[in-house]
Amino acid sequence: MNIYDSQRMEDILLSLGHKKENDAESANLLIFNTCSIREKADDKLFSDLGRAKILKDKSTEEDFIIIVAGCIAQSRPQDLLARYPYVDMILGPQDVQNISDRINDLIDNRDLDTLVFTNLKASDKFKRFSRASPLLKRGISEFLTIQEGCDNFCTYCVVPYTRGREFSRSVKEIISEAKSLVANGVKEIILLGQNVNSYNGLDESSEKCRLSQLLWELSSINGLKRLRYTTSNPKDVDENIARAHRDVKILMPSLHLPVQSGSDNILKKMNRKYNREKYFEVIDMLRGYRSDMAFSSDFIVGFPGETNKDFEDTLNLVKKVKYAQAYSFKYSPRPHTPAAKMTTQIPEDTKEERLRILQKLLNQQQLDFNSSFVGKRVEVLLTKEGRHLGQLVGRSQYFQAVTVDNANNLRVGDIAKVFIKATISHSLIGEKI
Ligand code: 5AD
Ligand code: SF4
Repeated sequence: MNIYDSQRMEDILLSLGHKKENDAESANLLIFNTCSIREKADDKLFSDLGRAKILKDKSTEEDFIIIVAGCIAQSRPQDLLARYPYVDMILGPQDVQNISDRINDLIDNRDLDTLVFTNLKASDKFKRFSRASPLLKRGISEFLTIQEGCDNFCTYCVVPYTRGREFSRSVKEIISEAKSLVANGVKEIILLGQNVNSYNGLDESSEKCRLSQLLWELSSINGLKRLRYTTSNPKDVDENIARAHRDVKILMPSLHLPVQSGSDNILKKMNRKYNREKYFEVIDMLRGYRSDMAFSSDFIVGFPGETNKDFEDTLNLVKKVKYAQAYSFKYSPRPHTPAAKMTTQIPEDTKEERLRILQKLLNQQQLDFNSSFVGKRVEVLLTKEGRHLGQLVGRSQYFQAVTVDNANNLRVGDIAKVFIKATISHSLIGEKI
């Protein structure tokens, strides 16, 4: 979602005559669009800001501006102001659309203190975004935000406090943006939402439209070859979505379905509003409609109060589901969240040990999943040149990275039928059939 927001900020600034530099040394405006989901992301910003100060001190420009945007800006503005007085502006995720006006304010009035904008109310964000015409070349696969914010309040998660309440864009706005992406050469669109299955934007007759209907609408866009969406909360996946995976031809048979934990006890403490039984039901339902569905997931280990038995439950859930790919994290306390105040925090070394064990299992599952394709055919959407001459790389239907050898008469943007010869690490190697 930050990539999407950053691209839109670029569109706005470029359409007003700003120029994009490839390195920070040549710029006089630095924008950090930040993520606050886990502790590691915070640490990264703090070291980057140290380097930004050095550039600002060295610069001879009258208006050298440093902006911190995004979720850290939203959740800890006072902290940023106190620790980094050389930051000129703090811009939350619902204010980034006004970036150009805000920069002008700064330039017009150089004596201003740091400007802070952390309005969380439903905003005119997407209307402003869509007014700026895209100037940078689009990739083959691009994101399109359809829903933002979250009302779920999982107890570990900072998102409801940084992106605000759920907001869905209208069908018309989404279709029009999708068409313009396709007209610019995009072949695959990945729909984004914090809680994408709860999409309920208005259609042309002001009726609420569900995600499954939206997928049908988008699938009729000429030239669009693939559709994906992320991220889904298992509690909101309904039968219409499962059916869409069978019937909407350009909807890919892979789904990111974060479970977070395999223990009912922990799922309850996380306020995830489903249990492991329900998760298995959702997986079975999807596989019932589309037997080759590939699943990926997110996991948190060491959530407050997680016992060895809870962790074992996670391991055996993984063994039952068999994932194609997964992300796993040590729990980290986040500002404003209830879990951060729980008194049963897990020691760091226990979290590390559990993470190591879980990642070993997930890694093996990914390797097994990939190896099962050797000797088979997959369809690959080619997204860019490979490292060696005659190679192109892309993604299979199941979102595996695939390198295609001897791809001389293929082009980026094609969907190639590929015979898989081998796997290397986490990607597949194949040849055009
Ligand atoms: N600690 C660790 N991981 C977290 N995630 C979200 N909040 C936290 C946290 N406080 C993970 C979840 C989520 C992914 C985007 O980040 O697994 O699905
Ligand atoms: Fe965070 Fe839960 Fe909302 Fe996902 S569903 S964004 S984990 S609060």
